[in-house]
Amino acid sequence: MSMFRNEPSQEAAQQERKAANSDLKTRGISDTATLNRGTQTHHGVTRDDWDGWWREAVIYQVYPRSFADANEDGMGDLPGVIEKLDYLAALGVDAIWLSPFYPSPQKDAGYDVSDYCDINPTFGTLEDFDLLVAGAHALGIKIMCDIVPNHTSDQHEWFQAALAAGPGSAERERYIFRYQPEGTPNNWGSIFGGPAWEPVFPHTGNPVDEGWYYLHLFDVTQPDLNWDNPEVPAYFDRVLKFWCDRGVDGFRIDVAHGMVKAPGLPDDEIGPDRYADAGEDGSGAALSEQLSANEHPENSGPASGVPDSEAASPTASDSETATPTAPGALATPPGGSNIAPYFDQPGVHQIFKRWHKLLAGYAGNKCAVAEAWVEPAERFAAYTAPGELHQAFNFAFLAAGWDAPALRAAMTASSQANDRVGAPTTWVLSNHDVVRHATRFAYQADCGFDPAGGIGVDNPQPDTGLGLARARALSLFMLGLPGASYIYQGEELGLPEHTTLPDEARQDPTWYRSNYRARGRDGARVPLPWQPEGPSYGFTITGADCQPWLPQPEYWGEYAASAQEKDQNSTLNLYRQALKVRKTHHLGRVAAGQPGIQWVDQDQKLGERWVLAVQNGDVQVLINMGENLLPTGDLFAALDASGAEEVLVASDQVQPREDLGKYLESHGGGLPPTTAIWIKNPAKPNVEEPQTHE
Ligand code: GLC
Repeated sequence: MSMFRNEPSQEAAQQERKAANSDLKTRGISDTATLNRGTQTHHGVTRDDWDGWWREAVIYQVYPRSFADANEDGMGDLPGVIEKLDYLAALGVDAIWLSPFYPSPQKDAGYDVSDYCDINPTFGTLEDFDLLVAGAHALGIKIMCDIVPNHTSDQHEWFQAALAAGPGSAERERYIFRYQPEGTPNNWGSIFGGPAWEPVFPHTGNPVDEGWYYLHLFDVTQPDLNWDNPEVPAYFDRVLKFWCDRGVDGFRIDVAHGMVKAPGLPDDEIGPDRYADAGEDGSGAALSEQLSANEHPENSGPASGVPDSEAASPTASDSETATPTAPGALATPPGGSNIAPYFDQPGVHQIFKRWHKLLAGYAGNKCAVAEAWVEPAERFAAYTAPGELHQAFNFAFLAAGWDAPALRAAMTASSQANDRVGAPTTWVLSNHDVVRHATRFAYQADCGFDPAGGIGVDNPQPDTGLGLARARALSLFMLGLPGASYIYQGEELGLPEHTTLPDEARQDPTWYRSNYRARGRDGARVPLPWQPEGPSYGFTITGADCQPWLPQPEYWGEYAASAQEKDQNSTLNLYRQALKVRKTHHLGRVAAGQPGIQWVDQDQKLGERWVLAVQNGDVQVLINMGENLLPTGDLFAALDASGAEEVLVASDQVQPREDLGKYLESHGGGLPPTTAIWIKNPAKPNVEEPQTHE
């Protein structure tokens, strides 16, 4: 691995430091070196993690299967990630979150873990992992691992022992086994479709197992753990310590809201098959419904052993919830539908308090981010309350789509709720479970198609130009917001979903489990293009001609990273420029006592025109999501601007570095639709005096 680092010249570095310090002062922060350590109270909130690096970080999700393949098997691996560390350093990210790389039968792409303290040989070895941590740290990049505590793989030694030990054994107490001679223990369905209860007898052939079931909220190969059994938290303490001791800086907590179930396991309102009423048109109705029920597209394969005939009758709300509210939106839950006896139970908070203490016992501000599809914002912010987890993915932001009022509402609600608990708000537009945002935004609101469930060759195809312009604009807007931002691999290339992936190549069992109605998540997981040409577009980094695990579309080379590096206006260079300016101006940082989001137009005058404008220190971050140009005069009035302000970055034109007046003039006399800009407006820093710590 080469340790290339972009070393700025001494003079440039000095200038950058000066600018950064003066910016910190404007923002009411003394300077990085004097940030207080330890427990402090800011505006009534006492926390021990006010100085956490993760508060303002840009965290890049590596999906190891699809990032870079070094060992020529068509599947990405850790050595592939090591090879691309320079690329990530040049992009300017602060941390990498790695989706699971543990030993696993890969029934759910690695979210079915059979050994939490090792590496799947397909992805490498523990030595590779250590090299990755060392290499990343040498470049100033942190490493976060994905912890999957709701369930194990059925191949985990605990589950194998549980099957062998029989009813009533201590081994079975680690999972959720129930006896029900007739029917199933309750009416729960798997998030992936089909019942959530699997009969034990077919797996053991032991007559004493007749009438016994085990719970699997996800695939039948992913039995749920029993977090009421003290052995389970004790085990995960060891897992967390194992990785902390290996030098990781944080964790992403899978299904954080699902680990504890309501006492007595009462029936839910959804019933045993979420997909039973999916649309016949492959429009992804079921997936939308699932997302709206506060989960997202999951899968269970034909190997799950749950025959389709077991599918039960649909719920009344399925079809009502299938309509998207805006392009790129994920249907919002109809009042309270996210409340389920297996989500967001009070008991989860005990676990996170325990983990907080464990992580706080280490140096380096180790952190954990919750994957918690929970609403409303107050319940969601409970996961990041003092003494619990450090951040949670802002799925309300992701779910709002290309809809300025919805985005504004989601931003205000989430930042206010986070402010109350002293947590940074996070921002995220894509991940491995949802259709890439460059494609979600590529559909007009009235097109009558909901892309949320995945897109196939016979579905309406996206307007990729529109999607890319919108994605660039909203990504730039997002990266200018205070708090932590998450980037899903490939979005920095403007990568779209693979919308014509041959159905026979699909590996996300959502496709089978939904009776071929929801295409699922494969389209967002296609191996990355690194080179414009050649076998697998450089995904296999040696250039060997091996089949990537999912086929890439033939236009993939147009998005290749190496070509984008040379094109000044490429999406990659837009992200690079944005991250650089973000760092110089500390845009990720919320000054103590400042609200997480400060709207420039408290009167919502810009908002009414679908223009969102946030004051972030002495930078104003704007996006025009409307269909009309916002004329220069109106913009100046709203921003209190004269035209002499500097445009720092624009989504249509990387590195404009020119006066706002000139920029607007050359863009038809205003801020064009589908465009975001960052403006340096020293006249309006709008930052209160530094707060004294109470
Ligand atoms: C999380 C993961 C998803 C996985 C599920 C079950 O939601 O993001 O990919 O299928 O958990 O582990």
